[in-house]
Amino acid sequence: MVKYVSVIAMKLPNIKILDEKHKILHTKSTEVSFPVDKKTQDLCYDMIKYLEMSQDEKIAEKYNLRAGMGLAFIQMGIPKRIFVIANEEDDGTFDEHIIINPKIISQSEELIYVGEGEGCLSVNREVEGIVPRCARITLEYYDFEGHKKTIRAREDLAVAFQHEIDHLNGILFVDRIDKKDPFKNKENMREL
Ligand code: NI
Repeated sequence: MVKYVSVIAMKLPNIKILDEKHKILHTKSTEVSFPVDKKTQDLCYDMIKYLEMSQDEKIAEKYNLRAGMGLAFIQMGIPKRIFVIANEEDDGTFDEHIIINPKIISQSEELIYVGEGEGCLSVNREVEGIVPRCARITLEYYDFEGHKKTIRAREDLAVAFQHEIDHLNGILFVDRIDKKDPFKNKENMREL
């Protein structure tokens, strides 16, 4: 109850997410230099707050939001190689990531796909089909100060990272679905 009251009183960050009809979503974002300025850092925190609020049913209803767990700068029209993730854990807390200039340094051969289909806050329509993703990846990235970090991700988080890295390269998940055969090779992948 306490959480409900405090969360509902939170102000929704002023974030405008571009729809897929905006061509800029298909541009490749450029690398960020360090240290990252305060304005950019604050935007990252606002994006995380927005995602967390979007995953709260009551707030989502109040503000008419679609739930999202990841957001890239390009989705706000800023072509910088940064994305954030807020992944709700079973205990209701959030696993938060701010990822700058990422590079996949290793990936599993095993492929997975999201059974109910991937979603994207920039794609406001129903899309049929599956997107093949690596089940496990290792990512190199940087923090605000420019320190190099490494993270391993699997399952949902691995899919989210790959989806967001695609955004940095101007690719939407819908671009990865085979138009003629949206469920192509399904039998060779594991469903999430
Ligand atoms: Ni997306």
